[in-house]
Amino acid sequence: MSLYIKSVGHYTPPRRLSNKDLESMVDTNDEWITSRTGIRERAIADKGVGTADMAYHASVQALEEAGMDAKEMDGIVCATCTPDMTMPGASSHLQRKLGGAEVAAFDVNAACSGFIYGLDVVDGMLASGRYENILLACADKFTSTINYNDRGTCILFGDGAGSLVLSSKPGGPKLSALYTGGNGQLTNLLHRPGGGSLLPFDECEDKDELYVQMIGNQVFKHAVRGMGLSATETLKRAGWDKSEVDWLIPHQANRRLIDAAMDRLGLAPERVVVNIEKYGNMSAASIPVALNEAKGQFKPGDKILCVAFGSGFTWGGAAIEWA
Ligand code: UT7
Repeated sequence: MSLYIKSVGHYTPPRRLSNKDLESMVDTNDEWITSRTGIRERAIADKGVGTADMAYHASVQALEEAGMDAKEMDGIVCATCTPDMTMPGASSHLQRKLGGAEVAAFDVNAACSGFIYGLDVVDGMLASGRYENILLACADKFTSTINYNDRGTCILFGDGAGSLVLSSKPGGPKLSALYTGGNGQLTNLLHRPGGGSLLPFDECEDKDELYVQMIGNQVFKHAVRGMGLSATETLKRAGWDKSEVDWLIPHQANRRLIDAAMDRLGLAPERVVVNIEKYGNMSAASIPVALNEAKGQFKPGDKILCVAFGSGFTWGGAAIEWA
């Protein structure tokens, strides 16, 4: 591993959508949503705000914290499945907003596993020796894909961004191990079929095809397995026993999924970073936002395990040693 975390920044939009608000939109109620998901409210980006706008705010914060200028970045990688446009990537829009040098900018789409896959890609870039500093922005305006008449999905998602300045130069928290996995046989359990090349938007017969569709209870079962596998494999690669984990930062998709991952590791609840109640599922942004909100509690040498699962299916884990 050649990757050091120089800084983290995050942004969530100020507007909130509460469970009470949703009660007036679909046939649901606060008690059901809270008990089945752990979510109480979500941050929602306004019309006219794109993924790159949120990534910009998070990135400015990360650059400031690192004491670096956008000009010093040798590359910009954006982990997202909701780019501002299908072309060019959100990374190019972010580059336009940030300014900086004429360096590589591209997106990684691994849905809710975007942070882990993004780390994997950036680690490889840094290991090549051709890049020293890279900005990884994990951002999704997931609500732009949601049908607010579908109670199975509209209660779950929110918008946000988390950015990291990553470097091959030693110093700061270090990536100790990384694991990624995937299974493309089950794409239909969680997908957004319309608007791509297979089913362009003007060929959609049903408007629902333009929204995210999910068979929630089936995804749930695969997510329990995927997050568990990610924890086991990442720990194995890091050479850590599960009893050594100081902090677990799981993807925030459902409180019950987080609890399943916590129980598997035998961790006390105070060792698990949870912010799902105020943001819902922010897709690729969820782990970096949680990391940034919790980092004040971390001590040098703390062992942090991040695990994610998302559409694809994609999954994976990262072991980080704090400094
Ligand atoms: O980040 C990417 C990965 N995504 C995930 O990991 C999401 C994983 N899935 C989930 O989080 C859960 O499956 C959901 C929260 C989406 C659903 O919870 P569930 O406990 O799996 O419920 P279910 O889908 O099995 O539905 C149980 C009942 C059904 O009614 P009947 O058939 O038993 O009468 C649903 O129609 O709950 C009903 N239901 C609702 N009721 C009130 C489904 N959504 C709602 C709702 N409000 N919003």
